[in-house]
Amino acid sequence: MPQEFDLIVIGAGPGGYTAALRAAQLGLRVACVDDWRDARQGPSPGGTCLNVGCIPSKALLESSAFYQRMGHDAAAHGINVGALTLDLGRMQGRKDKIVRQLTAGVSFLFKKNGVTFFHGRASFVSRDDHGFTLEVAGATGDLLQLLGKQVIVATGSVPRGLPLVTVDQDRVLDSTGALALTSVPARLGIIGAGVIGLELGSVWRRLGSEVTLLETQKKFLPVADRDIALETLKILTKDRWLTLELGIQLESVSVTAEGVKVVFHQGEEAHTLEVDRLVVAVGRIPCTQGLSLERIGLSCDERGAIPVDAHCRTAVPGLWAIGDVVRGPMLAHKAEEEGIAVAERITGQMPEVALEHMPWVIYTEPEVAWVGPTEEELRSEGRELRVGRFPFLANGRAKARGETRGFIKIIACAKTDRILSVHMLGPEASELIAEAVTAIEFGASSEDMARLVHAHPSLSEVFREAALGVDGRSLNS
Ligand code: FAD
Ligand code: NAI
Repeated sequence: MPQEFDLIVIGAGPGGYTAALRAAQLGLRVACVDDWRDARQGPSPGGTCLNVGCIPSKALLESSAFYQRMGHDAAAHGINVGALTLDLGRMQGRKDKIVRQLTAGVSFLFKKNGVTFFHGRASFVSRDDHGFTLEVAGATGDLLQLLGKQVIVATGSVPRGLPLVTVDQDRVLDSTGALALTSVPARLGIIGAGVIGLELGSVWRRLGSEVTLLETQKKFLPVADRDIALETLKILTKDRWLTLELGIQLESVSVTAEGVKVVFHQGEEAHTLEVDRLVVAVGRIPCTQGLSLERIGLSCDERGAIPVDAHCRTAVPGLWAIGDVVRGPMLAHKAEEEGIAVAERITGQMPEVALEHMPWVIYTEPEVAWVGPTEEELRSEGRELRVGRFPFLANGRAKARGETRGFIKIIACAKTDRILSVHMLGPEASELIAEAVTAIEFGASSEDMARLVHAHPSLSEVFREAALGVDGRSLNS
């Protein structure tokens, strides 16, 4: 007899594990199935985010930034550190430990909240009036069946491949391989100057690699506001800190005895790039492989995503899907919000997830962050706007930190003064963006934000000054 649950969640990434915890809090009998294996083939709940995504990448970004500061910035503070050496094994070990602690934390939370966890790969067997029958294939080949009245699919995404390129995780890596390098490549090539390319490119550049990014689009970071994207491009490529080749067409990739040879076209011109390691970071695709969705009458859209409505309902009653496996940005906090909202909806509440108010952060130095549409998008809708801008250069705290690059830009409706979007490039933008999300979610005007007291000296004063700037009355610049 299959074990029965009110709700089965497939996938224990940020979407799935959060949904399972919230549903258990609300009194449902919940199971969560996840197939991620750690180095010892044991369970490692937390999905892409905890195992090979947000967390390990941020651990390496922090460590590499620390290394760079010690090597380049300490002297300006009057601190002489002597000869700087890198123990990459220890740095990687620190990252792995953080991952282990956090994945163990998810297991702990499951136990604490009464969520039954199954380690294995789930697939649908059938659906009838009692609910959904699932089969779970365990790591050791064991099979068991579960029956769930409702199911949430939270199976996430996997790196997109390229027809010309074979990822061997030795010379040619995806993001997972690029997070696990055991030596610093002298020359690193990255195909794709998107979020992963910029973040992992920054890590290895700071640790000493010469980094070249090859990008098909002519426009740098087309998803970001133009002012922010252009200033970011200027900063990241200054003195060829990163080399960025835009508007390229990949011709061939071949692994040689010395490394990897990439041939590409830029306009009419053919170029060859020789590197020691190549990272492919050209986006991610929804993961539905092996779920046997056809057995319950569901098919994916042309992107391979599970089609859902605004509340993450699929076309099959009782079946929900959230996170990277559905439409919308592939972000951990978006997956979490959807997980919470679905658990609450199943138990009779009416939550809404505002996809349009989802903050974005790119953890370069300085950090890029935004919430809401770009100025170009708003103007193309014919909206009348007022824009306030304030540089970190004129902020005392930024000066004290020695991090004065970038600015905050607030875009408000010219008629109502309501804040429509906020775009940032600067220190701690990943933290500062929270104020912008609050302002937009609560329908604040730029005047509201300009009247709020911000602690002095703090980076958040730049936000206030940008709000004052919407009305042309910034004080400190
Ligand atoms: P996932 O986290 O992908 O989890 C899905 C889980 O389901 C996995 O454990 C998978 O093994 C399991 N699974 C799949 N199929 C089955 C099955 N049939 N049976 C059982 N289990 C199954 N986002 C941010 O917001 N901020 C960041 O800083 C950030 N950095 C990133 C850095 C990198 C290098 C990468 C690759 C991604 C990053 N992301 C970041 C994106 C973020 O990781 C994803 O958006 C997020 O993990 C999606 O959550 P999810 O729950 O939908 O799926
Ligand atoms: P991405 O979509 O951000 O960037 C991929 C880039 O590759 C694009 O600029 C695209 O034009 C380019 N590209 C595609 N095909 C190409 C080709 N053949 N040759 C050269 N360039 C090509 O995807 P990325 O960087 O792989 O990240 C995947 C997702 O993971 C992101 O979209 C984001 O949702 C998530 N993520 C989020 C982070 C964050 O929130 N800080 C950090 C890392 C990932």
